[in-house]
Amino acid sequence: MTAMPAPKPQVRGFFDPATATWTYVVWGAGDKTCAVIDSVLDYDAASGHTATASADKVISFIQGNGLAVEWILETHIHADHLTAAQYLKEKLGGKTAISKHILAVLKTWQPIFSNAADTPQDGAQFDHLFDDDEDFKIGALEARIIHTPGHTPADTTYIMGNAAFVGDTMFLPDVGTGRCDFPGGSAEDSYASTRKLLALPDDTRLYVGHDYPPEGREPLCMATVAEQKAGNIRAGAGIQKDAFVLRRREADRGKPVPDLLLPSLQVNLRAGDLTDFIKIPVNRI
Ligand SMILES: [Fe+2]
Repeated sequence: MTAMPAPKPQVRGFFDPATATWTYVVWGAGDKTCAVIDSVLDYDAASGHTATASADKVISFIQGNGLAVEWILETHIHADHLTAAQYLKEKLGGKTAISKHILAVLKTWQPIFSNAADTPQDGAQFDHLFDDDEDFKIGALEARIIHTPGHTPADTTYIMGNAAFVGDTMFLPDVGTGRCDFPGGSAEDSYASTRKLLALPDDTRLYVGHDYPPEGREPLCMATVAEQKAGNIRAGAGIQKDAFVLRRREADRGKPVPDLLLPSLQVNLRAGDLTDFIKIPVNRI
């Protein structure tokens, strides 16, 4: 008996040049129910002002195509941009969700931000916390998550048919993989997670959370498993764990923190809820 071919969901990517982030809208072919993955709320750190130009592009696409939002998903707690999850939910509906491993991330950052009063420590700010390997649906499209830690302890990959949204676990082949030097990050775990991704069928489309294109190349959002196996400069099929870990640690040593680390983490740990103030902890990280 031959296996049924995996469904090929429709995917639309939106690139935010300010943070090099890809936001995705994904929906089943012939279906009108969608999920939004890793949205961006624009933020000017100097003035403390937010703006919604990036999220509004996603909203017009969804409305223009008559799609209904069922899920607003995060691949992890981002450290380089604020999520627009609450803004999207307010405008379009849908349930916010992330991996249950966010509980570990909340625990790590609570003493740094002293945020127990404004950030629920049980994850209740999200409508749903996914278990590892949990199955769910986007309309009729079957989806599941797998735990792909390393960049952070809570990184998750969402798989829908032949499309997988890998967050910062892998980037385009000529860029490599995500940094592992944030609290709770692990180069060893990251290597194991890249192996999980490369074990998916060769024609699986891996959609990345960011692209940092080398000069002369336009930002791209996707490479197949076959392309990643053949060409990923850090985590291709022939690269052994020890070599990966050594090179990852070297690359991360002394790496500057992202410009929006402190505001991003605080807001993203609240599932995108903005309170009146974002704190800057002094000499704590
Ligand atoms: Fe990230």
